[in-house]
Amino acid sequence: MADPGLFEIMFSLRSMRKLKTDPIPQDVLDKLLAAGTQAPSGQNTQPWAFIAIQDPATKKFVQEKYDAGIKERFGKFSMDKIGDDTTEKRTTKAALHLSERMHEVPLLLMVCGKRDWPFQTLPENRTGKAPPNYGAVYPCVQNILLACRALGLGASLTTTHRLHEAEIAERLGVPDDYGLVVLIPIGYPKGKFGPISRTPPAELTHYDSWGTQTPPG
Ligand SMILES: Cc1cc2nc3c(=O)[nH]c(=O)nc-3n(C[C@H](O)[C@H](O)[C@H](O)COP(=O)(O)O)c2cc1C
Repeated sequence: MADPGLFEIMFSLRSMRKLKTDPIPQDVLDKLLAAGTQAPSGQNTQPWAFIAIQDPATKKFVQEKYDAGIKERFGKFSMDKIGDDTTEKRTTKAALHLSERMHEVPLLLMVCGKRDWPFQTLPENRTGKAPPNYGAVYPCVQNILLACRALGLGASLTTTHRLHEAEIAERLGVPDDYGLVVLIPIGYPKGKFGPISRTPPAELTHYDSWGTQTPPG
């Protein structure tokens, strides 16, 4: 399959939550991880690490914890009561679909971030564990999502596992100095990529000072 152009990739990169069970070949996984690790990081510290979860029992464990998190967060919804009439409802329905079947997805890629105090947090204010280095992990995650789209793989950025992060970290044997930042379920998609819905940049952009939304000249 020919690579779509970068802009076509960005403009059709929506969350793909309905995925086939076909396995992801190792060379494809290697390419995704190579793309992720090209991301920038402060002082090139590269504070990421990955757990490629493919073992059925481990996937089931993660799915159960993730699903518990989703049900805690979206408890007031149930699959039967959700219509198809708004984007928000469609997203919630798709999120529930993924949550209940996540163990069937061939690859759950856990992106971990090394814990590190942001330099804005003064030493006297540092209590407990440092947060993982989100600022560096997110460009890495976005590179992986772009690479998935380029290779025809469906993926979505998820974070609800964090409601049960400690239990998942223990099961996966993650050392204390890493946090579990993003979980990316990856598989060949059942649906089509795009279109995506976003606020037009003209509504979000100010020129020289806040409130001036007409470009100069
Ligand atoms: C920080 C962050 C956390 C997210 N967490 C979840 C999640 O836990 N579960 C999920 O299904 N989607 C999650 N998403 C995906 C968003 O719901 C999705 O990107 C958004 O609704 C836009 O839809 P689209 O990606 O299909 O265009 C998350 C996205 C971001 C950026």
